[in-house]
Amino acid sequence: MEEVVVLIVGAGPAGLATAACLGRCSVPYLVVEREDCSASLWRHRTFDRVKLHLAKEFCALPYMPYPDGTPTYVPKQEFIKYLDSYAEHFCIKPRYCTSVESAAYDEGARRWVIAARDTVAGTEIQYVVRYLVVATGENAVGRIPEIPGIESFPGEATHSSTYKSGGRYAGQRVLVVGSGNSGMEIAYDLASHGADTSIVVRSPVHIMTKDLIRLGMTLVQHIPIKIVDLLLVTIANFTFGDLSKHGIVRPKTGPLLMKSKTGRSPVINVGTVGLIKKGIIKVFGEISNIIGNKVEFGCGKESYFDAIVFATGYKTTVNLWLKDDKCMLNSDGFPKKGYPNHWKGQNGLYCAGFARRGLAGISMDANNIANDIVSAVDFLPD
Ligand SMILES: Cc1cc2nc3c(=O)[nH]c(=O)nc-3n(C[C@H](O)[C@H](O)[C@H](O)COP(=O)(O)OP(=O)(O)OC[C@H]3O[C@@H](n4cnc5c(N)ncnc54)[C@H](O)[C@@H]3O)c2cc1C
Ligand SMILES: *[C@@H]1O[C@H](CO)[C@@H](O)[C@H](O)[C@H]1NC(C)=O
Repeated sequence: MEEVVVLIVGAGPAGLATAACLGRCSVPYLVVEREDCSASLWRHRTFDRVKLHLAKEFCALPYMPYPDGTPTYVPKQEFIKYLDSYAEHFCIKPRYCTSVESAAYDEGARRWVIAARDTVAGTEIQYVVRYLVVATGENAVGRIPEIPGIESFPGEATHSSTYKSGGRYAGQRVLVVGSGNSGMEIAYDLASHGADTSIVVRSPVHIMTKDLIRLGMTLVQHIPIKIVDLLLVTIANFTFGDLSKHGIVRPKTGPLLMKSKTGRSPVINVGTVGLIKKGIIKVFGEISNIIGNKVEFGCGKESYFDAIVFATGYKTTVNLWLKDDKCMLNSDGFPKKGYPNHWKGQNGLYCAGFARRGLAGISMDANNIANDIVSAVDFLPD
């Protein structure tokens, strides 16, 4: 058994940022991480060509800007390098291969009791902690929707989290399901590698350019969001034209307002739209049924595929281990309280990185959590 003041579960950007903010205030903490490295999502579960979608000024963690010369849109390898130097700079040494398996609050002792497993030695460790920070990520496991007949599909059906590159799909008929940033980018990657690519676009989506989003995120600090949204949509309409004949329509709510209300991000075009307009990537509506290699769509169309990639989002896994009597989280493992009150639960429970606001949201959470813990003086040894 080990007593810890603050236990941070997860050594991704959110865990590292929270650790840095606590460390600056000399609050003792321990970071535990189930993988054998930090930022495992970025090292092992993102595809090769990924870059940060948002400009670097919106993607830095607290108290450390990107080094001079970093490209505006940071490539994956440089982002990982940044995270490594961040951990080094703030002397953050996560305890790796330590998977948290349960956490419950002991009312009598006023402590969280956490059971973790050392995945190398196979032993159990118990932590008794005053403050528990959940930083296990919004993207913990891939979510694959239930589709009638999917079990009859003979080809490979994978989730975007395991997709690396389109290289091995050349010449195959591939269906990408989901038209968020991952789906759109994977479709582009597949098509560029010579796959016969189709994408399912089920609901309205805001197609933008990364520079438009950068402009919008800058302007919205000074100008009302509705005006900024109108400007963005006007320019995007001009840039991309009417895509409705290709099966892509714009939502009524503007892109930044939609992001702030629902967490749904606008899609940043990486070249997919051009390929859709040329007919190189085909767009389909919702899938109704799968029979062997044949996929039937709601509109009555059907087509044959060799592989399916589901870019249909993620679930969190917090509910599997956190016994959360005060019900901070809903059944999908996201905070029930909306932004900006989402980060704090009761009895010293916090979550970092669950606001659907990317790295900017993570920085905000980390600062809020550290300030809140610092303002409660009872972590000082008596
Ligand atoms: C493809 C992709 C592109 C993205 N692009 C951007 C972008 O451009 N800009 C932006 O702001 N955001 C972007 N994001 C959002 C992304 O979620 C964040 O950038 C960031 O990685 C989230 O950090 P996190 O620390 O909250 O979660 P994660 O990075 O997922 O880290 C969570 C960590 O917790 C560990 N863990 C989980 N469960 C346990 C357990 N039970 N015990 C111990 N450890 C555990 C995991 O192994 C993991 O290392 C992108 C996400 C994806 C998937
Ligand atoms: C943008 O285009 C869509 C569809 O083509 C249209 O409904 C919308 O009114 C346009 N908005 C602006 C601000 O131009």
